[in-house]
Amino acid sequence: MGSLMLFTRFLVLGTVYLSTMGVIADSDFNWSTLLPSTKLDWKPCYSGFECTRLIVPLDYGSAAAGNAAIAITRYPSNSSKSEYLGPVLLNPGGPGGSGVDYAVEFGAEIAAILGDGFDIVGFDPRGVSYSTPTVSWFKSDAERALWIPSTQDTVYAALDESVNAIAEQWARAQIQGQLAEERAGEYLQYITTDNTARDMLRITEAFGQEKLQYWGISYGSALGATFATMFPDKVGRLVIDGVLDMEAWYSANLTAQEADTDKALQAFADGCFAAGLDNCAFYAPSSAQITANLQALLASAETNPLPVVTPISYDVFGYTLLKNILLDSLYSASSFFQPLAEGLADLAKGNASTIYTSFIEAPPFECTADSNSTSPPIPFHDNVFEAVFSIACGDAVAINDTVPELQKFYSQAQNVSSFGDSFTTWRIACSGWKVHRPGRFAGPIGANTSFPLLVIGNTVDPVTPISGANKTAQAFPGSVLLTLDAIAHTSVNAPSTCVFGHLREYFVNGTLPSVGTMCTPDSPVFPSSAGNSTASGRRHLDSRSNLLKARRTRRAIGAARRWN
Ligand SMILES: *[C@@H]1O[C@H](CO)[C@@H](O)[C@H](O)[C@H]1NC(C)=O
Ligand SMILES: *[C@@H]1O[C@H](CO)[C@@H](O)[C@H](O)[C@H]1NC(C)=O
Ligand SMILES: *[C@@H]1O[C@H](CO)[C@@H](O)[C@H](O)[C@H]1NC(C)=O
Ligand SMILES: *[C@@H]1O[C@H](CO)[C@@H](O)[C@H](O)[C@H]1NC(C)=O
Ligand SMILES: *[C@@H]1O[C@H](CO)[C@@H](O)[C@H](O)[C@H]1NC(C)=O
Ligand SMILES: *[C@@H]1O[C@H](CO)[C@@H](O)[C@H](O)[C@H]1NC(C)=O
Ligand SMILES: *[C@@H]1O[C@H](CO)[C@@H](O)[C@H](O)[C@H]1NC(C)=O
Ligand SMILES: *[C@@H]1O[C@H](CO)[C@@H](O)[C@H](O)[C@H]1NC(C)=O
Ligand SMILES: *[C@@H]1O[C@H](CO)[C@@H](O)[C@H](O)[C@H]1NC(C)=O
Ligand SMILES: *[C@@H]1O[C@H](CO)[C@@H](O)[C@H](O)[C@H]1NC(C)=O
Ligand SMILES: *[C@@H]1O[C@H](CO)[C@@H](O)[C@H](O)[C@H]1NC(C)=O
Repeated sequence: MGSLMLFTRFLVLGTVYLSTMGVIADSDFNWSTLLPSTKLDWKPCYSGFECTRLIVPLDYGSAAAGNAAIAITRYPSNSSKSEYLGPVLLNPGGPGGSGVDYAVEFGAEIAAILGDGFDIVGFDPRGVSYSTPTVSWFKSDAERALWIPSTQDTVYAALDESVNAIAEQWARAQIQGQLAEERAGEYLQYITTDNTARDMLRITEAFGQEKLQYWGISYGSALGATFATMFPDKVGRLVIDGVLDMEAWYSANLTAQEADTDKALQAFADGCFAAGLDNCAFYAPSSAQITANLQALLASAETNPLPVVTPISYDVFGYTLLKNILLDSLYSASSFFQPLAEGLADLAKGNASTIYTSFIEAPPFECTADSNSTSPPIPFHDNVFEAVFSIACGDAVAINDTVPELQKFYSQAQNVSSFGDSFTTWRIACSGWKVHRPGRFAGPIGANTSFPLLVIGNTVDPVTPISGANKTAQAFPGSVLLTLDAIAHTSVNAPSTCVFGHLREYFVNGTLPSVGTMCTPDSPVFPSSAGNSTASGRRHLDSRSNLLKARRTRRAIGAARRWN
């Protein structure tokens, strides 16, 4: 079962590419040199960026709880003052994805899409990464690494692999919940989406602006919809992309989020068949045969896991890893279907190295791994694992399901998707969670906003089916649903010149697409790999689509898997 996310089980709801960013960000800037301030006191950082730490109250209801400091970075507008259009705040999903890393990685490209008039602003939501306090219930990165191996197979285990898998996950969740409460409970209660929405208003005001401009993907849709509900008259521009069902979010039941997951897997088989052997290494003479071959590999992985040793890592490659890789690949068909097919083809020959290297490989944890870097490691910088559950479980209604209840929950989830494991894991984690601040925002969402929302949904999204976009759009009168005909999680994972054009018009001119607009992605699901036509595939995407840098998919996936 696993997880959902692509590249990282942590970011179950986010973008794949996002996870590559920590690599850049860690070593380049020492955030401790910035003193938190009540103003935006910008200092140069990274390359071409400016950084600051903004003081906000931990508890908006009382100063007694003390402060948080929000890490913020911007790719600054280079427009003249008269043409300046203000900040656009980003959220990359997770929850718990670092907006700083996201902006550092993609800020220039996002500026190219939206125009020079905006400051492109990434911030780490409270509790996340460079914002302080940084959520963790581990005392060190080493302690965390012992609890969560780099492949994450013990924390995102396939729940149908063994009879005690659910009971074991439940027991782990009790431990996590107890440690979190004992070691971090004091501030943990304030690490919730409603407070991050309040922080976004503070950031906006610190820029001297009255209204928010925002683009949030995946979990960022919950943050955006929550903001728009709490502060409907503070909406300037608000894009939500890869949209959750907000009732599901606030009730800790994300099962229905996987309504289209199996469709995405079917699209892999169909696309592989259509692409032919030249472009899909896992080709077979029918789509049904491809599916059957895949099922055979899953069955084999369960009974005959394979040893893998690479120059930098090693592992036993079994059912959980394969199932998680499959789900991860559905996050971006155009980026991952082809390398997935190559990996599966070698796996069918008894060689797990290719798929392991493409999707999983990460160097083993070393306590001294960062000792040569120019800045010392910032403890807990990579805290997506903790942040996911702190925010998801802390937002939702308190639950305390028993093992039999969870077994029933899983059966129902398996009825929705063969990947029902992933969000059942969330449910299990929340069943051990104990920190729930009374009075927090818990929905319902919906309001008449001061400016209409732009809502983006993909026709086949493995974790945020388009029904969530449709339902959310209807809760905000005047908002428009823009559909992207793609197999991917969020528009970011299926770059589309058409979507980018609508985003620019919306942010710059306030123009919404007409109702019923459908865009297509720039890149096909199985880019042609032969000769001249290669250019129409990924290379074309790289040069024109702005959002994805020239980068080998393989490296991107590998880096994404990196844990510490
Ligand atoms: C701002 O930067 C973009 C490229 O990033 C460039 O095309 C544009 O001319 C610059 N504008 C100004 C006013 O310097
Ligand atoms: C969770 O959602 C699924 C799908 O909507 C539903 O079948 C199930 O009954 C729900 N479970 C709980 C405990 O609410
Ligand atoms: C597995 O496949 C990889 C990539 O093609 C190759 O480098 C490696 O030698 C193969 N390993 C074995 C044991 O055949
Ligand atoms: C640190 O640098 C030394 C000398 O360059 C090298 O031998 C060592 O492997 C490095 N350590 C790590 C953890 O990268
Ligand atoms: C980072 O900044 C803090 C605070 O100024 C300082 O104590 C620390 O030594 C710095 N680290 C490096 C590697 O410069
Ligand atoms: C679990 O939740 C139920 C309903 O909210 C409550 O009655 C019960 O006391 C809780 N059990 C535990 C062990 O917290
Ligand atoms: C799964 O779906 C089948 C057919 O719709 C239904 O009969 C069965 O009760 C469902 N199982 C669960 C656990 O909901
Ligand atoms: C929006 O305003 C209309 C007209 O006043 C009202 O009927 C409707 O309930 C409002 N919708 C929301 C979601 O607040
Ligand atoms: C959105 O929901 C409405 C009302 O439930 C429905 O009529 C419509 O077909 C849905 N549209 C899409 C694109 O799902
Ligand atoms: C915004 O509107 C102006 C005037 O209608 C037009 O010239 C410009 O191309 C539009 N810009 C965008 C990004 O749509
Ligand atoms: C190469 O690409 C061009 C433009 O897409 C196309 O017109 C041409 O037929 C292709 N040539 C070959 C040999 O595939």
